[in-house]
Amino acid sequence: LDNGLMRTPPMGWMSWERFHCNIDCENDPKNCISENLFRGMADRLAEDGWKEMGYDHVMIDDCWSSMLRDKDGRLQPDPQRFPGGIAKLARYLHNRGLKLGIYGDLGTHTCGGYPGTTLDKIETDAQMFASWGVDFLKLDGCYSNEEEQQKGYPLMSKALNATGRPIGYSCSWPAYRGGLLPSVNYTLLGEICNLWRNYDDIQDSWDSVQEITDWFFDNQEILQPGRWNDPDMPVYMDQSRSQMALWAIMAAPLIMSNNLRTLNHGLYTKFTVYSPFLCLYVTLFFLQKRSHIEVYWRPLSQSASALVFLSRRQDMPYHYHTSLAKLNYTAGSYKAYDVFTGKTLSGLSATTEFTVSIDPSGVVMWYVYPRMHYEHPQDDVYKVW
Ligand code: GLA
Repeated sequence: LDNGLMRTPPMGWMSWERFHCNIDCENDPKNCISENLFRGMADRLAEDGWKEMGYDHVMIDDCWSSMLRDKDGRLQPDPQRFPGGIAKLARYLHNRGLKLGIYGDLGTHTCGGYPGTTLDKIETDAQMFASWGVDFLKLDGCYSNEEEQQKGYPLMSKALNATGRPIGYSCSWPAYRGGLLPSVNYTLLGEICNLWRNYDDIQDSWDSVQEITDWFFDNQEILQPGRWNDPDMPVYMDQSRSQMALWAIMAAPLIMSNNLRTLNHGLYTKFTVYSPFLCLYVTLFFLQKRSHIEVYWRPLSQSASALVFLSRRQDMPYHYHTSLAKLNYTAGSYKAYDVFTGKTLSGLSATTEFTVSIDPSGVVMWYVYPRMHYEHPQDDVYKVW
């Protein structure tokens, strides 16, 4: 969508995976879907260094609204849980240099059973969101049929545009149509949406991460290279590095859903600094399977590239022997920056045999660049493992 927004995959925080539809503010005031939760997460993004890394959106997911529209047919937030209203919450975020995302659903109801946006309500809701100062809309697709989605997703794109406020637009449409051709028209999606969801909702499990990864890589040819395919949220658990590496090499939006109040973010810092490099240029991936080790490759700007060595093993660290030539690199001299250790391996020619040690369900991630083009500041030779 050519609305000037999200030229790189959007980053931020969203409530769904971690907080779902917890509306019990009486018994669980710290974790219920309320303005306090979003203000609190905004404080963490603004004060803990996340914003500087690019995590600048706070996104409300389902269960924010009142069970009924107001007397004029407009959506309204639940008055107990959002006493200040959405506009005030948006101002709170904007004052901290952050943006506010909201959730809607094309259909009679949201997936959680709240009022949905039927075709006749699209303009009203777009106007409402814009008047509140909302910067991003996730439009889900529960309780609508194929025909309504075919009309509704493009209509909402137009309606958002007509508000005059730049609003990023995430479409869950393909997720409801199975994500494959010919049911999904990715060219059209690219014209009307900034990003789109596919496949099942992520769960807080490594199995879920692996299933999503398989689906996205199996179907990568049809998933519109150069656009933001959304494999759902990074959940950052024990295999957090692996998920971060995979999500980055997919150029996925990095919209977290975890408890920022207790998260130790040191681990992600160095990695995320590198993610803008990884997001810019998108073409195909390359996948090599051997010994339950998979290698993912993505070309980047300035003849650089990213490599992810992923272990699907469950036994012990595996020493994987290969060379850049075996991974389809052309002759030449290269350097490899290890994204997680921060060390650089220099003097690599395409035929140099090397070994990487990959932990079970872990990754090694390299930023590889030609020696001539680009000198890295912290240059030092090291043994790969
Ligand atoms: C669907 C979506 C999720 C979340 C929930 C909310 O399942 O795919 O991402 O928005 O609805 O009810």
